[in-house]
Amino acid sequence: MKKMWTGVTDGVTNKIADDFNSSISFDSRMFAQDIKGSIAHAMMLAKQNIISEEEKTVLIDGLSGILEDLSSGKLEFDENAEDIHMFVEQILTERVGETGKKLHTARSRNDQVALDFRMYVRDEIKVIISKLKSLISSITTQAETNYDVIMPGYTHLQRAQPITMGHHLMAYATMFMRDIGRLEQADVMLDVCPIGSCALAGTTYNTDRLFEAQKLGFSQVSMNSIDGVSDRDFAVDFLSACSLIMMHLSRFSEEIILWSSWEFKFIELSSEFTTGSSIMPQKRNPDMAELVRGKTGRVYGDLMALLTTLKGIPLAYNKDMQEDKESVFDAGDTVKACLDVFAPMIKTMKVLPENTLLAAQKGFINATDLADYLVKKGLPFRSAYKISGEIVKECLSKGLVLETLSLEEYKKHSDLFENDLYNDISLKTCVEKRISLGGTSPSSVLEQIKLVKGYLEKNV
Ligand code: ARG
Repeated sequence: MKKMWTGVTDGVTNKIADDFNSSISFDSRMFAQDIKGSIAHAMMLAKQNIISEEEKTVLIDGLSGILEDLSSGKLEFDENAEDIHMFVEQILTERVGETGKKLHTARSRNDQVALDFRMYVRDEIKVIISKLKSLISSITTQAETNYDVIMPGYTHLQRAQPITMGHHLMAYATMFMRDIGRLEQADVMLDVCPIGSCALAGTTYNTDRLFEAQKLGFSQVSMNSIDGVSDRDFAVDFLSACSLIMMHLSRFSEEIILWSSWEFKFIELSSEFTTGSSIMPQKRNPDMAELVRGKTGRVYGDLMALLTTLKGIPLAYNKDMQEDKESVFDAGDTVKACLDVFAPMIKTMKVLPENTLLAAQKGFINATDLADYLVKKGLPFRSAYKISGEIVKECLSKGLVLETLSLEEYKKHSDLFENDLYNDISLKTCVEKRISLGGTSPSSVLEQIKLVKGYLEKNV
C-alpha cells in the first residue's frame, strides 16, 4: 500500500506488515483528542506566522467538520489507515486540498501521539472520578440507613469486636475517596504538554509551545523534547490508580459475596443485581461482585503489561510505544463498567440487622470490653486481659456466653465485678462507647457520613 511517508523508501509495504503495524483499530477512539490537538496546532502556526490566517481558517473548518462527521458516524474510519493521526490528516487533505498538508508543520506523530494520549487519559480520569463519587454516595446512603446496625467486626476473619454496619461501609467510602485523590494527583503529574517536542529534538520553526499548551488546558510544557516524546509515566500512574480502585472493589466484592452467602446472610442483594441458577431454584448468585473481583486481575495485567513494555525502550520514540494504548483503554473501560454496576448494586442491597446482631452475639466479641471494665475499676490492662481470657475459657467449657455467666461465677475471678458489668458488656454499650474519632459508635459514624457528604457536595 502506498504511504504518505514516502521518503527514501518507495512507500510500498506488504499488506501483512501494514495490518501488523496499523493501530487505527484501537487508536480511532482518540479522534476527538487528535482533532482538538490539531486545531490548537493550527492556531499556534498562524499566531507565529508559520501559516496565514486564511490557511488557519481552512484547516480549523476542515478539522471541525471531520470531528462532527466522526462524532455523528457520517464519516467512518478507514481500517486500512495506519493510525488515527494519518487518517485525520488524509481526510483533511482530501477535503481542503493542499492547505491540509501544512498542518503537520513543526510537529511529528511522536509528539502528536504523546499529546493525544495524555488528553485521552485526562478525560478518562474525569469520568472515573465522577463514577467514584456516585459509588461513594451509594455507600454513604447505605451507611446512613444502617449507622447503628450491630455486626461483628473481624480480624483474621475471626469475630473480633462489635462494630456498626455503617462504620464498616464507611471504610469503603474512605478508600474510594483516596482513589479520587490518587487520580487527581495523576492529573497533576500529567499536566505537562509534550506538543512541540516534534520528532525528538524540537524544531527550527519559531513555535509558541506555551500558547498551544494553554489552548489545550495544560499549564506547563515538557522542558526536554526527548522526554516529551518518550514519557508514558502518566499512563502508568493512571493504570496504577485503576489497579488500586479495582483492589478496593475486589475486597468489597469479596465481602458482598461472603455476606450474601447462607453462612453469613448479613445482606440480600436486590434481584436486579443477582442471577439465578439454571438448575438450583433457590440460588441468588452475586455474579456482579464475582465478576468485579475477577476483572481485577485483568486490570493488574494491564499495569504489568505497560510497565514491561516500557522497561527496555531506549530514548526516544520506538514503535513498542504503540502498545501503550490498549492496556489503558482496557483498564479504563473495565473500571468504568465495574463502577457502573457497583454503585446501584450497593444502593439497592438490603442489610439484615437481625442476622448481623445474631452473629455478633455468639462470638465473645465483648471480651475486650470485659477487660476494659476491670481496667475502669483499677486493674492494669494486662491483668484484666488475663482474667477476661480465663472467663471466656470457662464460658466455653460450660456452653455459656459472657452475658449468661452469673455474677457469682464472675466474682470467683475478681471481686471487682459488680452487677453493672452486664450493662458494660452489652453489645449496644460496647458499640456506643467507642466514640473515639473515626470509631464505630453510631454518633461517630454519623460524623463520618457528614464529612463525606460535605466532601461530595463540595466536589460535584
Ligand atoms: N500509531 C503510533 C503510536 O501509537 C503513532 C506514532 C507513530 N510514530 C512513528 N514515528 N511511527 O505510537
